[in-house]
Amino acid sequence: MAFAIKVNGTTHSVDVDGDTPLLWVLRDVLGMTGTKFGCGMALCGACTVHIDGAATRSCVTPIDSVGKSEITTIEAIGATPAGARIQKAWLDLEVVQCGYCQSGQIMSASALLAGNAHPSDSDIDDAMSGNICRCGTYVRIREAIKHAAQSI
Ligand code: FES
Ligand code: FES
Repeated sequence: MAFAIKVNGTTHSVDVDGDTPLLWVLRDVLGMTGTKFGCGMALCGACTVHIDGAATRSCVTPIDSVGKSEITTIEAIGATPAGARIQKAWLDLEVVQCGYCQSGQIMSASALLAGNAHPSDSDIDDAMSGNICRCGTYVRIREAIKHAAQSI
């Protein structure tokens, strides 16, 4: 079945089953591999994208639920004000270790900062608790979010 989805400002027509996860469509159909597969069960956050600005686990989001929503992925988050500040902070504080989880971390952090310019520690914990990092970069992630908030 054909679906027209809007990703990073561009409408794409994709021919897949309606229950195909958005993550599969992004990676395997559109070739946008910045969004990562981790658990496939909404447990790790590696696959996080924005749907109408909300951080969303694309591994459990069927394509037929997306409709006309605006999807933003890691490939374009740097074009948003909050995403640009988060990416700069990630570089300034050298957050990344292996990097596998970091697309999802940046997408969750960008959604947080876009809706809350000066998040408290508990705001950060609430927003980031679903994003797992096997390398344990949590302390640098929290500092980078604060660093990005200070740059506003
Ligand atoms: S791959 Fe989606 S939450 Fe883990
Ligand atoms: S940086 Fe390696 S899993 Fe997070």
